[in-house]
Amino acid sequence: MKLKISVIGLGYLGATTAVAFAKLGHEVIGIDSDLTKLESLAAGRVPFYEPGLEDALLEVIASGNLRFKTQHDEETSEALIHLLCVGTPQSKTGLGADTTYLFNALDALAPFLNEDALVAGKSTVPVGTAAELAKHLASKVDFPPHLAWNPEFLREGTALQDSLLPDRVVIGVKEAWAEKLLRLLYEPITNQGVPLLVVDIPTAELVKVAANSFLATKISFINAMAEIAEVAGADAVKLSEAIGMDERIGNKFLKSGIGFGGGCLPKDIRGFVARAEELGVGQAVGFLKEVEAINLRRRSRVIELAQEELGDLTGRRVTILGAAFKPETDDIRDSPAMAVAEQFWMAGAKVVIHDPKALENVRRVYPQLETANDLDSAVQGAEIVVLTTEWKQYREADPISLGRHVTNRLIIDGRNALDVSAWQAANWQVVALGRNLDRIPALV
Ligand code: UGA
Repeated sequence: MKLKISVIGLGYLGATTAVAFAKLGHEVIGIDSDLTKLESLAAGRVPFYEPGLEDALLEVIASGNLRFKTQHDEETSEALIHLLCVGTPQSKTGLGADTTYLFNALDALAPFLNEDALVAGKSTVPVGTAAELAKHLASKVDFPPHLAWNPEFLREGTALQDSLLPDRVVIGVKEAWAEKLLRLLYEPITNQGVPLLVVDIPTAELVKVAANSFLATKISFINAMAEIAEVAGADAVKLSEAIGMDERIGNKFLKSGIGFGGGCLPKDIRGFVARAEELGVGQAVGFLKEVEAINLRRRSRVIELAQEELGDLTGRRVTILGAAFKPETDDIRDSPAMAVAEQFWMAGAKVVIHDPKALENVRRVYPQLETANDLDSAVQGAEIVVLTTEWKQYREADPISLGRHVTNRLIIDGRNALDVSAWQAANWQVVALGRNLDRIPALV
């Protein structure tokens, strides 16, 4: 059944959500007050890099299933469901999440909200936020408004696929009617066998931060093992493979390296700690502080490894391969790669950054750092090359050809992504996090 819905806030989450529901056959109106963003989307251009999203956007614009508006009007008030997808960044004054945009979104929606419409939050929020939002909305309208929570688990880089065919759909509701409506919204997905879990609203809010905290913990766990492997003469990559074969542990999110970043995991674990402390149960998630500490230590470890090889880094030419927080995105928010680049720069090195997609963002946010558009010129004269984001382009790069451009064949594999023996065979010295690799390059 085709439903008319509005998607409020068109960032990574909202733009993908709007396109996905339009592709699934619903009639979607995307709303964002940022005119530049809106004009770009309406013209069929996604203002960030997300594989497959632009083609899908063009398709749903052409089908008439997706339209855009800068604000609510009589037409958007006909929507049966309003999905809140605005950002909840880390607060400027503390570690908690800033939920202001959600309250602002409700203020804008309230005058156009229909009595029998459902407002469903998708943004990541501290547990208890939905209750505050419901209270706030109730004070703005003269009928009891309906609010539900419907967390989103999409990953950048595979966002569209994750939205069209997620592992599960979680809906937090208070009323059977809201459940029915959300089941209709997700019918094209649940029809394909995707499970839908119905929970209460606080559980729905918690599911999201709990999932992200678990993922962050898993990554920091293997990175903690990497710290130990480095001093014990062990190999964290083999260790990960071995423990990951236990089905109870699983091999996903068990890749050691310079750790996690992005707009979600780091901010969500900080926000979770802050919220738990407010609720008087800070101890329950105190370990998340250590999860973050391990994560940050791995970034600095790269600089230490470079210093162990080169000594003082002042004036040394360092090439950073990868700026995005992970491959297949141009997002550099809280990117471990950029943290490493900055630390080299602070240590006095001459840093050159390469990335297949994120250089525009790098130039905007870090105008002081040098960038290079192509790989060969990026590594030209490098005394050390550091792989910080495991783009396919780097994993498949030819070490023999790259070796012709550098001054010193030394590479730090910050993501344990390279075929070490191929690089060593091309006379590169490979240094990796959590591994004790042969320091003497093999002879060809
Ligand atoms: C994350 C979650 O995976 C999504 O489920 C969630 O919906 C999203 O946050 C969100 O809250 O919106 P995302 O931020 O796109 O998705 O990135 P991830 O794929 O989770 O990767 C996060 C970081 O962990 C990256 O920097 C990646 O390089 C790093 N990572 C991942 C590792 O260091 N090791 C691993 O084994 C896996």
